[in-house]
Amino acid sequence: MSDATPLFQIENLHAGIEGKQILRGVNLTINRGEIHGLMGPNGSGKSTLAYVVAGHPNYEVMEGRVLFKGTNVLEMSADERARLGMFLAFQYPTVIPGVSMANFLRLAVNSVREGRGNGNGKPLPPREFRRMIREKMALLKMDEAFATRYLNEGFSGGEKKRAEILQLALLEPDFAILDETDSGLDIDALRTVSDGVNTVFTDQQAMLVITHYQRLLNYIKPHFVHVMLEGRIVESGGPELALELEDKGYDWLKEKHAS
Ligand SMILES: Nc1ncnc2c1ncn2[C@@H]1O[C@H](COP(=O)(O)OP(=O)(O)OP(=O)(O)O)[C@@H](O)[C@H]1O
Ligand SMILES: [Mg+2]
Repeated sequence: MSDATPLFQIENLHAGIEGKQILRGVNLTINRGEIHGLMGPNGSGKSTLAYVVAGHPNYEVMEGRVLFKGTNVLEMSADERARLGMFLAFQYPTVIPGVSMANFLRLAVNSVREGRGNGNGKPLPPREFRRMIREKMALLKMDEAFATRYLNEGFSGGEKKRAEILQLALLEPDFAILDETDSGLDIDALRTVSDGVNTVFTDQQAMLVITHYQRLLNYIKPHFVHVMLEGRIVESGGPELALELEDKGYDWLKEKHAS
């Protein structure tokens, strides 16, 4: 990949689920070091975009490409995409009964290390992993007991979000999509999670943050903000666009882009 190749690029993406078309020509380019916010009314296709990019098997791509490090990832499995350095925090994280947080995270970290050839692809020694998870949990102000709990079982909304950010901190992906990271977080947790994201984010990474609230973008400051309407990105701008939406809602954009 040359330096001029964008880290992540969506070209004319059309996709849907169960025969229903949802994405109708999405274009988006994200470079290393950039944080992009994605907003838009309920049902406009934001989560669908996240799922399609992550390779969720229920979604069907009709047209277009998703390039990551110059490679079209649409032919790859979700697992292969993760190993290549992509990360997706789901809006509704799944419960995995009988798997503790720590075990899940160890498997995830080792799988990604193997994919990237970190440490010659060898699994992290358990002691090293424990040190790493302790360090990241301290960074995110998380109780160590959290790691011994079963994944997402009985987690509150805020705890699920923290668990995702812990994954993000441990996996150090090149590109992450966070969907509705603000949902279910109280104000203190929102700040802690945002601080966590800001602390672990480096200029070698890039991020797409999907949110309904300008508030989140006060904490995780985006370089660009995009608005999705009916499966297309119809407006892009700087952080001021989020403020404008908070103020004016989406109706003016719906009128402007009525087809
Ligand atoms: N399994 C499914 N079968 C049929 N339609 C679906 C399915 N999943 C999602 N949709 C539809 O796709 C459209 C886009 O949904 P999506 O979840 O991507 O929206 P969103 O922008 O993330 O909304 P929100 O802001 O509420 O999270 C909606 O009309 C939704 O009902
Ligand atoms: Mg959604």
